[in-house]
Amino acid sequence: MCGIVAYIGPRDATPIILDGLQRLEYRGYDSAGVAVLREGTIRVRRDVGKLSNLRNLVQNDPISGPIGIGHTRWATHGVPVERNAHPHVSMDGEFVVVHNGIVENYLELREELMAEGITFKSDTDTEVIVQLIERFAKNGAQNNLAEATRAAVQMLRGAHAIVVMSQHNPDELVVVRIGNAGGVAIGLGEGENFIASDIPAILEHTRRMVFLESRQIATVSANGYHVQTLDGQPVATEIHTIAWDPVSAAKGEFKHFMQKEIFEQARSLTDTIRGRVDFERGSALLPDLHLSAEAARALTRLVTVACGTSYYSGLVGKFFIEHMARLSVEVDYGSEYRYRDPILDEHSAVLAITQSGETVDTLAAMEEAREKKALLWSIVNTVGSQAMRISDGYITMNAGPEIGVASTKAFTASIVDQYLLALHLGELRGTLTPAQCRTYAADLGRLPDLVGRTLEIEGRIKNLAGLLYHYTNFLFLGRGINYPIALEGALKLKEISYIHAEGYPAGEMKHGPIALIDENLPVLCIALKDSVYDKMLSQIEQAKARGGIVIAVATEGDTVIATKADHVIYVPPTPSLLSPITAVIPLQMLAYHIAIRRGADVDQPRNLAKSVTVE
Ligand code: AGP
Repeated sequence: MCGIVAYIGPRDATPIILDGLQRLEYRGYDSAGVAVLREGTIRVRRDVGKLSNLRNLVQNDPISGPIGIGHTRWATHGVPVERNAHPHVSMDGEFVVVHNGIVENYLELREELMAEGITFKSDTDTEVIVQLIERFAKNGAQNNLAEATRAAVQMLRGAHAIVVMSQHNPDELVVVRIGNAGGVAIGLGEGENFIASDIPAILEHTRRMVFLESRQIATVSANGYHVQTLDGQPVATEIHTIAWDPVSAAKGEFKHFMQKEIFEQARSLTDTIRGRVDFERGSALLPDLHLSAEAARALTRLVTVACGTSYYSGLVGKFFIEHMARLSVEVDYGSEYRYRDPILDEHSAVLAITQSGETVDTLAAMEEAREKKALLWSIVNTVGSQAMRISDGYITMNAGPEIGVASTKAFTASIVDQYLLALHLGELRGTLTPAQCRTYAADLGRLPDLVGRTLEIEGRIKNLAGLLYHYTNFLFLGRGINYPIALEGALKLKEISYIHAEGYPAGEMKHGPIALIDENLPVLCIALKDSVYDKMLSQIEQAKARGGIVIAVATEGDTVIATKADHVIYVPPTPSLLSPITAVIPLQMLAYHIAIRRGADVDQPRNLAKSVTVE
């Protein structure tokens, strides 16, 4: 989950790389480093901890040059100390690399290289890459950086994104992608070019980008680039124009990206819906799915695969698709599905939900689906991501860049995308009447306004956080379509405040977990005025009878619940299928404000990264 930025052109690479890494710091932040080449000499600056440490180092001991590579690290092999920070330099100082991924066979390669007299300076797997490149260069590929790199990476096992710079080749960088260790974007400027693991790092410089696929290698100069397969076949590349604007990737007046992204949800959901609903007909317009009515009717099952928050989104979508399209939906973790030897056929569809489009477990599940000839769809936020590119059809979230590690606006956008998919399938399969389609479409049209009203409760949530932040365990209960929201609320709290929290189906409490409830356990119940309201009321009474502290997410106007729960958070009345979206917003805010109270690093929680590209 590391971040990579590189530059080649007439300007000084150092500030461009540092600013780019700043925008990638959410990807991992154990250490960071930059290397530049000037007049045949490679100079490196590296430091542990946040990027600010590296900036201070470079300020005190500057380096500059028209070509350079940089990296921000989420440690996989080797503790986060300076010697393990990237970039890594070859033994004779002639080559330097930055790397995202894991060299699964690095120990045997390290021993082989050491037996040849090569000395290592770090504990990392990455260092074997640069030593191999130097070895192949000296054994014949001297001035062909791409050839030396190609020979070296053919020896690696695992998934990789690698950028290489050499003192022998001051006019080019080489970049390789193998497997799904995070994306590789080549940004095309005017007389200068960029390489990055994520679009936001270079978006201020160019919107024109080319994305490498697995097992492709590119040579990038200031005025051009060319891409080949690792077998040497030329590759025709597509230039994407990125619609995101750099400002939307900045914090603006908010203290954290997570807070900004929570508050963006009225607008981001408007963007998700825009242009995709014909409200007259009640049709969802999803041209990138390339789905005919015949193919839709032939489907017998849908499997949704995803990880983390995206998995919880899939659990919500199951309700939409089964209800509207009468299509059986199974939802599974990407990390589990890939090992299940799943039963799929040409009448099956597999839907991957992934904000980054680069989550390696989800991508592996997609590969499994593709091998079994299932129709492969994805819901992604990152345009040009691997998941999007390998799908037969896709639906973009259009939520704009999501920088906070804790997913918020992408979560709600992916739920709306599944609602659109369900409406589309329902219409194509004839399981919805035109009147029903129009009703569901009209409900969706009201959502941004309902979300906007829900966002007004932040003051109430902030006060509540002040009463709850010292507790060390939480229970989140939901039922039906809001059971996944209980799971998501618990995950939000866990991942940014480090408080242990568990989401649970409310109906299951009496089968054991109710033993947990006492005066030290806040129980957060999602108890909206819906078909399971009465059951949730009795759940609240059961929790109160055991001394639990009950916080209810309830529907505006519900006065009964105020007589049962200790605290009530009201959200606007919302059509039941869309109620997960207004119900999750207070939970996002509660996790955020509790984390703030606890002094946690909200945008860069410990041990986490925004895109999980390691297994
Ligand atoms: C969400 O808050 C977490 N950061 C994490 O669970 C995330 O949802 C998961 O890693 C999946 O990421 P993706 O949507 O980019 O595949």
